Amino acid sequence: MLQLHDKQFVPFISAQEIHSAIVSMATKVAADFGEEVPVFIGVLNGSFMVVSDFMKHYEKPCEVSFVKLASYEGIASTNNVKQLIGLNQDLAGRSVVIIEDIVDTGNTIVALKALFEDLKVKELKFATLFLKPEVYDKDIKIDYIGIEIPNKFIVGFGLDYNGLGRNCPEIYQLKE
Ligand code: IMP
Ligand code: MG
Repeated sequence: MLQLHDKQFVPFISAQEIHSAIVSMATKVAADFGEEVPVFIGVLNGSFMVVSDFMKHYEKPCEVSFVKLASYEGIASTNNVKQLIGLNQDLAGRSVVIIEDIVDTGNTIVALKALFEDLKVKELKFATLFLKPEVYDKDIKIDYIGIEIPNKFIVGFGLDYNGLGRNCPEIYQLKE
C-alpha cells in the first residue's frame, strides 16, 4: 500500500511488465523507421522515465528532446490556449515521435498535434506507455501503445498524484 497525500494506492502493474511493454515499443519503432534518424520528444513532467527506458532499448541512431505544454488564458476568449516550451531544435523535415506517459481524454495529444504541425515536421507519430481506451475519444491515431488500462487513476513510473508518486518504479492504482 502506498499513501500519497490523502489517498491510498495499491499495486497494479509490475516493473517487469512496464519494462517488457517499453522494449516492445522501442523494437517496433526501430523496425518502422528503417535507416531514418527520428527525433523522440518527451512530454514533461510525466514522460521522463518512459523516455529514459525507451532510449536504452532503441538500438539505432536517434535524437531526443523534451517539451512542456504550458496553458494560458487567451486575451479575447476564455479558451485554454496551449503553448510549447523548451524546444530549442529545428524540426522542419524531421520525423518526430512524441512519447507520452499516459493518454487519457487525448486533449493533450490534440494540442501537441496542432503545435507540431506548425513546425513543418515531415512525419508525426505518437507513442504512449499507457492508454485508457474507455476515455480516449479523439480521432488521432496513437501509433504505439504500451499497455491499455481501465479508467482508473494510476501513479508511479513518472505519473503523479498532486506531485507525489513519480519515483515509484511500478504502477499503483487508486484504492477503491
Ligand atoms: P489527457 O486527458 O489525455 O490530455 O491527459 C493529460 C494528462 O493527464 C496526462 O499527461 C497526465 O499528466 C494526466 N493523467 C491522466 N490520467 C492520469 C492518471 O491515471 N494518473 C496520473 N496522471 C494522469
Ligand atoms: Mg503527460
